[in-house]
Amino acid sequence: MTDIFFITKMEYVFLVKIALHMFQNTLAFAQAQDAKDPLKNYRTKFHIPKDADGNEWLYFCGNSLGLQPKITQEYIQQELNDWANLGVEGHFDAKNPWMPYHEFLTENMAKIVGAKPIEVVIMNTLTTNLHLLMVSFYQPTKTKYKIVIESDAFPSDRYAVESQLKFHGFDPKEGMLEWKPREGEELLRMEDLEAMLNEHGDKIALLMIGGVNYYTGQYLNIKKIAELGHAKGAMVGIDLAHGAGNIQPNLHDSNVDFAAWCTYKYLNSGPGSLAGLFVHEKHAHNKELHRFAGWWGHDKETRFNMRYDFNPIPGAESWQLSNPPILSMAAIKASLDMFNEVGMDALREKSKNLTAYFEYLINQIDTHRIKIITPSNPEERGCQLSIQVENADKSLHQQLLDKHIISDWREPDVIRCAPVPLYNSYEDVYNMVDELKKCL
Ligand SMILES: Cc1ncc(COP(=O)(O)O)c(C=O)c1O
Repeated sequence: MTDIFFITKMEYVFLVKIALHMFQNTLAFAQAQDAKDPLKNYRTKFHIPKDADGNEWLYFCGNSLGLQPKITQEYIQQELNDWANLGVEGHFDAKNPWMPYHEFLTENMAKIVGAKPIEVVIMNTLTTNLHLLMVSFYQPTKTKYKIVIESDAFPSDRYAVESQLKFHGFDPKEGMLEWKPREGEELLRMEDLEAMLNEHGDKIALLMIGGVNYYTGQYLNIKKIAELGHAKGAMVGIDLAHGAGNIQPNLHDSNVDFAAWCTYKYLNSGPGSLAGLFVHEKHAHNKELHRFAGWWGHDKETRFNMRYDFNPIPGAESWQLSNPPILSMAAIKASLDMFNEVGMDALREKSKNLTAYFEYLINQIDTHRIKIITPSNPEERGCQLSIQVENADKSLHQQLLDKHIISDWREPDVIRCAPVPLYNSYEDVYNMVDELKKCL
């Protein structure tokens, strides 16, 4: 009997992966992968930050702020020109008239998240949208009022949920239920959510879950979450900040009630840019839903009659409050046009391979100090890998920064790195791991 029969299950999975992908730990292999990458030209369509000598940084931070497409400047310049030349008439006569400008973004945005156009709108910012959606979909009663979040939810989501509970007169400590990983584990298990719902379901009014966890990179089965939540009569909402443009969440088919995401991460639309909002078609014509209303959500035919009774536009558009900032929308339009040209299928295919190569190289580092906490199953993650480093502190991140490697440090000991398929190369990934190895 050979030694192969004595390896652990994890080692076996790893060996199978190497055999399947036939990856090699050499620069020549990474360069050969780039040469045959059908999306390789897209890298040239982005501004890659450079050091003082003109050398490109290794940018692995698209999970925080995506890079700038070169075309963005032209899109914004077009609107600046139309504003300069037309003033207020730009609302009707601009090349892309400002009055319906947000509509130019809807179809491409809907394709990216797997929604119908009536279900999607771009407006406000992420936390604002989460609040507006909770105004509509968190309707607690005295007995059914609890909200489930994941224990490692992004702080803003947690604050939003806590403040919604308080707003309705509940104590957040009592009203918020946390879906936690088990002792000694990092990832969430669906059976634990199911058990929580079985125990407390009659008291739960809402599940508000990050579809791709910002810390671990775990991509949760949102269709299953919706099924479990709905079975207990709860509403289900998803924060897709780390999902939009990264994974394919098929929002319509997942049947979640609502979702929201930002566009400055994988959607490359600029710092603090506007956010996306999804409301499932099943709620599109429900005029009785509570909502905080504004004139941009009012029926377009009569909006300028300055009528007094609010008549919501059917679908997600009715959650709009104000007329939107066109300059920020122009940056989103530039990015979405590029996404439409590439298509999420091609992007996701490259992403799975690029991240698998990244994972392979990290696992080749000869040390027990590092552990990837992101799921190894490509269907349970996007492009981000979260690497836990034993006995490390932020100085490791600083060492990488000194080498112009931009990743993201999360206390106490995790480096988050996202090889983004639109602009990262296999060579980037190879060089990044090579430098990480030296730092360790
Ligand atoms: C998961 C998640 N939720 C909420 C936010 C907050 O986003 P915003 O500042 O656009 O409201 C972020 C920001 O990175 C995030 O990652």
